Amino acid sequence: MKTTDQINTAARKIAAARHSVALTGAGISVESGIPPFRGKGGLWEKIDPMKYAHIQYFLADPADVWRVLLKEMKTLLKTATPNAGHMGLARLEQMGLLKTIITQNIDGLHQRAGNTDVIEFHGNFADYYCIDCRLRQKFDDIDLRSLPPRCACGGVIRPDCVFFGETIPVNLLLRSREIASCCDLMLVVGTSAVVQPAAFMPAIAKDHGALVIEINPEPTPLTHTVSDILIQGKAGAVMTALIAELERLRS
Ligand code: OAD
Repeated sequence: MKTTDQINTAARKIAAARHSVALTGAGISVESGIPPFRGKGGLWEKIDPMKYAHIQYFLADPADVWRVLLKEMKTLLKTATPNAGHMGLARLEQMGLLKTIITQNIDGLHQRAGNTDVIEFHGNFADYYCIDCRLRQKFDDIDLRSLPPRCACGGVIRPDCVFFGETIPVNLLLRSREIASCCDLMLVVGTSAVVQPAAFMPAIAKDHGALVIEINPEPTPLTHTVSDILIQGKAGAVMTALIAELERLRS
């Protein structure tokens, strides 16, 4: 099927759905200048995730993780703004056509675009806390002149995001599973769908009878197995075209 036909079909399905949700990954933020993790130009090409993104290594050498990964990520995220992909999902919510976003991203761009119910499955880079006294801190208040940054109590400060080797907070996992089981349409945007348990949400949705629509320039393990439709393209262009078609259907 041609991309325009797929977009028109997807728009009709979204317009008719009773309860649509989205699962997003790093790909939706690529057009905001944030590189993905995998593939060409991905972060994991430059650094080993099983070292720098693993909790055991962070606890063993937090200064190194702050120096190699966290400082750079934070600088990137500070300048990034929502792109047409994020804006499209925010418009869907405004139109009453999207209830919740489950995101693996830690950049906060969905909320900045205007979505109000965002489950941050892997946490958020804007929030930090001391690993000893658990005092919560904002990034701008953290002194990075000496690494790792430390709390007034002397404890190491860490981002409130999920490292490899850690579990997803149980409340987020349970809510995501519930949402995946009760939706009748799931948009899966910009994820390679290889990191569990997030990648399992579309399968749960499908198993409960939902239509699964992927938006990605590349096929993923979900394509032709779990997804009903893959709209092959960048999130910004596809979301813009989808919204235009939905507005047309409404007029
Ligand atoms: P990945 O980097 O694994 O995958 C990014 C996906 O986005 C790929 O399928 C790309 O084809 C697609 N993509 C690239 N550019 C795009 C664009 N402009 N529009 C739409 N899609 C595009 O990112 P995630 O699937 O989010 O976890 O990775 C999942 C998790 O792995 C992350 O949350 C992170 C990482 O390790 C933790 O750090 C715990």
